[in-house]
Amino acid sequence: MIRVLSVTSECAPLVKTGGLADVAGALPAALAGHGVQMRTLLPGYPAVMAALKGKTEAERFDDLFGGPARLLAGQAAGLDLLVIDAPHLFAREGNPYLGPDGRDWPDNPERFAALSWVGAHVGAKGAGGWRPQILHGHDWQAGFMTEYLRRMQADDLRTVLTIHNIAFNGPADPGRLHSLRLDPGRFHSEGYEYWGAISALKAGLIGADRLTTVSPTYAEELMTPEFGLGMDGVMRHRRDALTGILNGIDETVWNPATDPAIKTYRDLKGKPANKSALRGEMGLPESDGPLCVIVSRMTEQKGLDLVLQALPTLLEGGGQLALLGSGDPALQTAFERAAKNPHVAVRIGYDEALSHRMIAGGDAILVPSRFEPCGLTQLYGLRYGTLPLVGLTGGLADTVINASPAALARGVATGIQFSPITAESLRNALTRLCALYRDRETWSRMQANAMAQPVGWDQSARAYAAMYAELIG
Ligand code: ADP
Ligand code: GLC
Repeated sequence: MIRVLSVTSECAPLVKTGGLADVAGALPAALAGHGVQMRTLLPGYPAVMAALKGKTEAERFDDLFGGPARLLAGQAAGLDLLVIDAPHLFAREGNPYLGPDGRDWPDNPERFAALSWVGAHVGAKGAGGWRPQILHGHDWQAGFMTEYLRRMQADDLRTVLTIHNIAFNGPADPGRLHSLRLDPGRFHSEGYEYWGAISALKAGLIGADRLTTVSPTYAEELMTPEFGLGMDGVMRHRRDALTGILNGIDETVWNPATDPAIKTYRDLKGKPANKSALRGEMGLPESDGPLCVIVSRMTEQKGLDLVLQALPTLLEGGGQLALLGSGDPALQTAFERAAKNPHVAVRIGYDEALSHRMIAGGDAILVPSRFEPCGLTQLYGLRYGTLPLVGLTGGLADTVINASPAALARGVATGIQFSPITAESLRNALTRLCALYRDRETWSRMQANAMAQPVGWDQSARAYAAMYAELIG
């Protein structure tokens, strides 16, 4: 078995703000069948501490970035965990990154530097009699691992960093070099310096043996100025180390045949009952157009402002919209206002069970993201026969087969893609959607295709396992 330590700031079902948690939570089980033993290093947030079973103390630290801490080994939710019990950093309720005022905790650079430092330490020295051969970090929160490893003896250790979203680069003011335990001699453009600031992500991008991201198309996009967001030069420089491996979905959680949150179904005959139930729950009237759903963080990335602009087109086509999401207050207010129309229903908040009922009950799921490293909700849509309408970018480009005349003629389409990602082209896509929906035969064919498309972890788990094997020779 290849021993890998996954270093992550969130992990479903214990702590989740987005897809990173789903991926970190699903990888260990997906890899177990491919000769990989993965343990997961997590900060000891209250929810993680409460869930941890069979804990043993693996290590003590007198001063972990400002206070004493312990490293605990144990299990929770079927995962083998190492947990950093550091109350001064992690004993804070709620969102792992934000305080009660909705802003980033001011000490986030140190909090996740501590995660990276403990990851490096376990990589170099082991913990509780177990030492990984590979450290696999996720996003900026694990970025400093390779910096810390430079001062620890661990030449046989290999490192991987996965980019789930390059828009978060983990910035810190240069005045924090000392508190972040960084080597000041490496604060330069070939080191972890990024536009005059410290960047945890950049440290990982330059330092890791391998870089992965969560779709092949996003891997290519990252090397362009439009998507690389200032890191594109670094990405081009590290082209040979970079691969895109698509995310899968956890099919024990997302399977319409077994999902405890819905009226289960194995084929299309089971969808109408879920649609009626969702209409009832959301207070939407009967209508013969497509019921479109959205489950999303409400941020610039997700293109929801474009939905507001294109909404009249959907409604004129007889369609309806149900949205579940939270985030940007201005967007929340705008959608709440849009919900004055009886054919629009909006739930502001985060609700796991409702997200399942929405995916099961919708005819189509809208994901009009401006960029999308992979995206999971379009994959849920495919699995549930809820056709994705997506922007042509990142993982959305790689996972949906657009209903082009050629794809329709060959009977292989699974959704609709639009490009460029503008309100105008979204309007056209919604018009196409309404027309396709009225063509019952074609629509059903697309649904059947979608439900038959493999969206689980099997293929990608194989790709990660092959990369690990190659790395350790
Ligand atoms: P991102 O990680 O950029 O937010 P993904 O599509 O990869 O995008 O993952 C988002 C995950 O978060 C999915 O599992 C989705 O169902 C979930 N999610 C997003 N918003 C909500 C919400 N308001 N309620 C429940 N689940 C949500
Ligand atoms: C990020 C991306 C999303 C991706 C998820 C998991 O949050 O925005 O596209 O699916 O990470 O990799």
